[in-house]
Amino acid sequence: MNNKLLEIKNLSKKYHTKDGEILAISNINMEVYEKEFISLVGSSGCGKSTLLNIIAGLDKESEGEIHFEKENPKIGYMFQSDCLFPWLTIYENALLGLKIQKEITKEREDYVLSLLKKYNLYDFKDKYPSCLSGGMKQRVG
Ligand SMILES: Nc1ncnc2c1ncn2[C@@H]1O[C@H](COP(=O)(O)OP(=O)(O)OP(=O)(O)O)[C@@H](O)[C@H]1O
Ligand SMILES: [Mg+2]
Repeated sequence: MNNKLLEIKNLSKKYHTKDGEILAISNINMEVYEKEFISLVGSSGCGKSTLLNIIAGLDKESEGEIHFEKENPKIGYMFQSDCLFPWLTIYENALLGLKIQKEITKEREDYVLSLLKKYNLYDFKDKYPSCLSGGMKQRVG
């Protein structure tokens, strides 16, 4: 059996808004194993993005536990909307994660450029997100 990567137990998330509490997810239990490919399927508003935001560490659960087997796991997460900064070029947006983490090296810059080439975005590297189609923005993300 493959190694377990992630275990979620009785996870709930409430959002607090000026109109009161919204229970976005309630009592979720799941395990994720190495090499598994999982689809989260559910109606609009059922809490898929909320769960992914918590797994990615961008939001905090209200109740329950989320446990990664590895410390500091590497998580890639493509947001539902592109979330690009409109005042940064495509190249600067693509490099932003490394910049924030102060991990830019020449080798990594070259790797980002190679990814832009791979995804047919290289010719747009000095343009701004407003010049790109929805699919192109998703690929930059
Ligand atoms: N930041 C927020 N503040 C308040 N309520 C929120 C917030 N984000 C999501 N919600 C509410 O939480 C619930 C779950 O939202 P979520 O975005 O997780 O749904 P989803 O399953 O990803 O939907 P979709 O398929 O439309 O993307 C919805 O009722 C939504 O209104
Ligand atoms: Mg969503």
